[in-house]
Amino acid sequence: MLKVNIIKAKDPAEAGKLAADIFQEVMTNNPNCVLGLATGSTPLPLYRELIAREKAGVLNFSTVRSANLDEYKGLAPDHPQSYRYFMQDNLFDHISIDPANTIVPDGLATDAEAMCAEYEKKIEAMGGVDIQLLGIGHDGHIGFNEPCDHFPVATHEVELEEITRQANKRFFDSIDDVPTAAYTMGIGTVMAARKVLLMATGKDKAEIVYKSFFGPVTPQVPASILQFHSDVTVIVDEAAASLLPL
Ligand code: GLP
Repeated sequence: MLKVNIIKAKDPAEAGKLAADIFQEVMTNNPNCVLGLATGSTPLPLYRELIAREKAGVLNFSTVRSANLDEYKGLAPDHPQSYRYFMQDNLFDHISIDPANTIVPDGLATDAEAMCAEYEKKIEAMGGVDIQLLGIGHDGHIGFNEPCDHFPVATHEVELEEITRQANKRFFDSIDDVPTAAYTMGIGTVMAARKVLLMATGKDKAEIVYKSFFGPVTPQVPASILQFHSDVTVIVDEAAASLLPL
């Protein structure tokens, strides 16, 4: 019996609302909670909903903290394609969260190993992640944990797969501008979150969602490890759920 809780939404907008309900519950239970946040197009409806709910007085981000999954290597925080910039632009600048309480790996770190080790320490010092939001790459990557022969444990530097660079080139002027490396929380970092919420929308994600949650657990499909997490919810829209035996 599959333990993963799969919730089907009509479309991406409804997926955003259902995800916001889960965030709301976590934030209501613990106003000082730590949100593990993600980038990409998939979480955008959720971020829009969170902004609207704070404006409506339903949510309060002023005491919340956050830790982001990943960052491109070599991009400055104010680079429009950096994940720090993405978070400011799509969420942080529109809610009451204290910027000092938000962490994203440093894309400009001169000592990558030290920065990654320090990132893990920062998350630990925050008391760990209460809810980790995830999107999913077409090859099953979560954060930037690409398919490989093992599950990387902690925050680390990773070479990006060509399929990932191609998928992300839509945000850049050309493929040559897409960084070849990134920093990402490890699979162990993600699995240590008390709650995991993965969102997937669109027909192009249907096959990888099926493989991740109905196939074998293997580092060749990094998201499949989530089958072993004790509190994971997957929110899919109808298109992304189209191959699931639900
Ligand atoms: C990037 C991010 C991932 C994200 C993935 C899917 O590679 N590092 O965290 O899940 O893209 O993005 P999208 O939601 O745009 O399909």
